[in-house]
Amino acid sequence: MKIAEITSYLGENWTKFEEVMRSSLASDVALLQSINDGMLASSGKKLRPMICLLVAGALGIPNLDSLRYAAACELLHNATLMHDDVADESPERRGRPTLGATFGPSAAVLIGDFWLSRAVDLVMLSDGHEKVAKSFSKTLTDLAEGEMLQMEKASSADTDEAAYYRIIRCKTASLFEAAGMAAAESVGAPPQMFEAAREFALDFGMAFQIKDDILDYAGDDKLGKPVGMDIRERKITLPLLGAMHVAGHEEEIRDKIRNMDSHPGSCAEIHSFVLGNGGVEYASARLDEYIGRACAALEAFPDSPARRYLAEIAHYNAFRQI
Ligand code: IPE
Ligand code: IPE
Ligand code: MG
Ligand code: MG
Repeated sequence: MKIAEITSYLGENWTKFEEVMRSSLASDVALLQSINDGMLASSGKKLRPMICLLVAGALGIPNLDSLRYAAACELLHNATLMHDDVADESPERRGRPTLGATFGPSAAVLIGDFWLSRAVDLVMLSDGHEKVAKSFSKTLTDLAEGEMLQMEKASSADTDEAAYYRIIRCKTASLFEAAGMAAAESVGAPPQMFEAAREFALDFGMAFQIKDDILDYAGDDKLGKPVGMDIRERKITLPLLGAMHVAGHEEEIRDKIRNMDSHPGSCAEIHSFVLGNGGVEYASARLDEYIGRACAALEAFPDSPARRYLAEIAHYNAFRQI
């Protein structure tokens, strides 16, 4: 899938979305404005606004609210990354030093707050915003709870699959779900289509985080962020759960994670354990299940180029290397 093909299909709506996002970040604080400009110039894949505008296009005619919701999703996503990189003490994002690495963690948190508040503002500007505002507000709660649960589980090293799915649903899939719902709402989609959009986006979001967790074990330099970080942060993700499911040694591995500080070699050992025991394949099978469910939800939409692009994005997620 070529992302450029989708943005060119979205045409004017895509350029307008970018303009809504850019103008919503304007500030007369010169330092903030220049950092915002730099962030916009090194943006990511922008999958959330793409999904938002394609869902709106598949279910109606995208309007100003659709553009605002698309921009709000991308702003909120970036805000969570800024905060996440502080929480993870991560040095690199999108092939560049993180804000925390350049300006320090306090600035990174404050800039994240600014982007988040701009997102909320855009949602409040929209017509009939109440339902959408509620779903974005739930996403904000999910994000904080997901990251806190992840932190709790990192210190106890007792993440099982149920906890893992709850974490990724909250920290990642919830925002995709909000994007799908907001898009459907913006074009006045009927309840059955609204529900299909919600389901598609939620299942896609689950698949998206599973792929991110696979790439943390199996990705390379193209990723633009360090690999192997999850186990260093004691995050037990699906590839490791899968390898333990296949090969056993569960308590031994969990103890290694608990005692990692005094045994720095454990990270490399666990990495090899995952790669040598089918952990990536196990997670890939779950990823395919979520992609299958996402595509099944799309069947409810009337056939259209927008629907076909949504299916392509879902399949692209299985193969992406960035
Ligand atoms: C990274 O998201 C964080 C996750 C939720 C896995 P993306 O991979 O969408 O990040 P960018 O915006 O393209 O850099
Ligand atoms: C996703 O989790 C982060 C958020 C949803 C905020 P990760 O911690 O795995 O994301 P990356 O790998 O740093 O992009
Ligand atoms: Mg992270
Ligand atoms: Mg990750």
